[in-house]
Amino acid sequence: MPPTPYRSEAILPFIEYDTAGRLHIDGTSAAELASEYGTPLYIYSARALRENFARLRAAFAPVDPLLCYALKACGNLSVIRELADAGAGMDVVSGGELERAWLSGVPMSKVVFAGVGKSEREILAALDGRFSLIGADRAGRDGGPASERGCVGLFNIESQEECERIAMLAERVGVQAKGCLRVNPDVDAHTHKYTTTGKSENKFGIDIPHVAPLFRGFAGHPHLHLTGLHVHLGSPIATAGPYAEAIGVLSTLIDQLRDHGTPLTVLNIGGGYGVDYGKGAPQTPEEFASVLVPLLGPLVDRGMRIVMEPGRSIICHAGVLLSRVEYVKQGRTKRFIVCDAGMHTLIRPSLYQAYHFVWPANVRAEHAPRNMGENQPMPGLSACDVVGPICESSDFLAQNRALPDVAAGDLLAVFCAGAYGMSMASTYNDHPKPAEVMVEGGGGGAREIRPRGTEWDLIATELM
Ligand code: LLP
Repeated sequence: MPPTPYRSEAILPFIEYDTAGRLHIDGTSAAELASEYGTPLYIYSARALRENFARLRAAFAPVDPLLCYALKACGNLSVIRELADAGAGMDVVSGGELERAWLSGVPMSKVVFAGVGKSEREILAALDGRFSLIGADRAGRDGGPASERGCVGLFNIESQEECERIAMLAERVGVQAKGCLRVNPDVDAHTHKYTTTGKSENKFGIDIPHVAPLFRGFAGHPHLHLTGLHVHLGSPIATAGPYAEAIGVLSTLIDQLRDHGTPLTVLNIGGGYGVDYGKGAPQTPEEFASVLVPLLGPLVDRGMRIVMEPGRSIICHAGVLLSRVEYVKQGRTKRFIVCDAGMHTLIRPSLYQAYHFVWPANVRAEHAPRNMGENQPMPGLSACDVVGPICESSDFLAQNRALPDVAAGDLLAVFCAGAYGMSMASTYNDHPKPAEVMVEGGGGGAREIRPRGTEWDLIATELM
């Protein structure tokens, strides 16, 4: 069916209400997607995804970083294949993510393996595809077996003990691994305490005084080449300030190491670049770059390769979650909109008190939202909580919001749901996971990229 004419302002790139008040994701009607694929449903715009990646790449082009997509944000194979095709590397944090990255078709040399608790079997799989966790003979996207894929480009290493484990296993399989030491710079990213990672009290990274001795200890090691530094401060980060502070700390360390005969070749500045959820706008990619590029340029001039690990900034705005209203229930003090998505579908509101803009997907024209703000300037709204079916009072998507009237059967859209939505979804209370759909745009239609889970899947493996 032909795309409906749009309002002039989209609320997000490729995500718009038309003149009749109906939500479209890059030209495809949200209501049609919901009736075809059911709810809860995650929908991604392929064009938004590609544009976000291209925009970040363009902003940082003067320092030509290796952009490794942090696939923990959303690791669906179709999503990561889009990014691999656009030239992204991958940042993985588990054996499962490692296998996904390999199946995306990205060369293993463009994979960085991070994570504070890498097990022996995960490290072996990252060193040598003969130890692939999905089977050494499993064919990758290029048709070749996992056994031939080789070693990841870089390990982001979190402790001396991990250096020793990687070196020991690399010797066992007869390769030389490359790694960056993850430094804990004790810099405050000013984000939620659960997602702050660069402070001294956090479990992540190596304290600065321990970094130089580790480089000395592993100098010339035949199986582990420590070649750079890694830092990740937290997520989401609203301004470039914390990055600038951390790069300052790391530049000093890089100079000291060089003066003592350890020239480094890689600086990985991690991810965390904030995006606008509708409540106060963090800096844009261009604004981040305008502060960081001048700090990184001199390091590049001295021969260092910059690596970045963006996740949220690429996928967040590209994704919408659709949910169906089951009941509208009047409580003693407020109205509850009970829908089929909840904390098991999108845990961010419950876990981090995160704000997501929620709005009905079909409204009267005068109720089409102008932006993603909490207070929409229009008459005829009433206060409510948007909650899910889970048996916990922490199960909500939005609290104390003014929404147009909705009834059972109506569709609600949760915006900015691409990042840490499906990837953190659970099957709590035995709800199967949602389906995921990719909208191609430009007349390319939509395709299911992960079918909805089933109750049978949840139970079958336990039946002896
Ligand atoms: N690199 C490392 C080492 C990380 O730990 C992370 C995220 C990233 C890169 C990517 O960060 P991004 O660019 O996506 O902000 N579940 C939380 C976010 C947790 C982030 C964990 N690490 C949320 O929903 O807000």
